[in-house]
Amino acid sequence: MALYTGDKWWDDKTVAVVTGSNKGIGFEAARMLAEQGLTTVVTSRNEEQGKQAAAKIQAAAPASRVLYHQLDIADPASVDRFASWLREELGGVTVLVNNAGFAYKGNVFGADEAKVTLGINYAGTRALTEKLLPLLKGPARIVNVSSRAGTRSIVRSQQLLERLTSAASPQQLDEAAEEFVSAIRAGDHAAKGWPSSMYGISKLLLSLWTAQLAEQLRGKHVMVNAMCPGWCRTDMSSGGGTKSAADGADTAVWLALRNPDDFATGGFWGERGGIPW
Ligand SMILES: NC(=O)c1ccc[n+]([C@@H]2O[C@H](COP(=O)([O-])OP(=O)(O)OC[C@H]3O[C@@H](n4cnc5c(N)ncnc54)[C@H](OP(=O)(O)O)[C@@H]3O)[C@@H](O)[C@H]2O)c1
Repeated sequence: MALYTGDKWWDDKTVAVVTGSNKGIGFEAARMLAEQGLTTVVTSRNEEQGKQAAAKIQAAAPASRVLYHQLDIADPASVDRFASWLREELGGVTVLVNNAGFAYKGNVFGADEAKVTLGINYAGTRALTEKLLPLLKGPARIVNVSSRAGTRSIVRSQQLLERLTSAASPQQLDEAAEEFVSAIRAGDHAAKGWPSSMYGISKLLLSLWTAQLAEQLRGKHVMVNAMCPGWCRTDMSSGGGTKSAADGADTAVWLALRNPDDFATGGFWGERGGIPW
């Protein structure tokens, strides 16, 4: 399926940032955005790996400007350095694909590990995005790569679910994140209705926050959406999965390049369509 067939609303000055684009779905999303002609910023925790990825993307999209900058979304100093560089070097950003994500392998489960997982997938994504909000320009789009592993149905207590879904501020989501970690530490997370999925809760909080942010920015011409790439063959899935990383990136890039006349915000998407979560 062609990625984009309408009139292009962007040009070679339109800036796209993809987090965690040294490999996997993020690499493919950055490659596709560069191939569509946007100025594309590849970012990664590890500089060496990120620079190699940027060189590959530049080779795949020779006519586009491909830049690299280090970015660890869970490290406030790195987020600050990145935001300053982006402002000074490029003057802002129009497309932000929050792809960076993390999951422990196997049956790892614990309070410290939950803190790390939520710290990257939810809090890190939020911290970077909030830092970049003043730099958004043009018909901006924020695409949060979430997961069907974080649908509402994973919460086992109706009362807890209602509290989570009715949260009106990120602070309430932060409190819920802390409660989850504390409950794991106290050994009563299941009794309190939490699932034994650190990754699932991190992505549920990410999707809930995406909906909050979409409301906060309503009327400001910013599309804010969450999506699930599907089960993709990447390092995260240890090479398992039914889709390639490129197929997983497709809906994220489709949302990122959506025509401004086709405005959609606050949704949860998969395979180029709205999906329940
Ligand atoms: N693969 C699937 O089946 C699947 C399904 C649903 C959702 N997802 C989501 O899709 C996204 C991409 O995953 P993937 O499958 O491509 O996995 P991946 O190959 O493991 O890539 C994850 C990327 O995120 C980066 N990352 C992790 N922590 C980071 C941090 N603190 N700061 C910046 N970057 C960080 C990784 O960097 P390093 O190389 O330094 O680790 C890597 O570039 C994730 O959000 C994941 O949760 C994947």
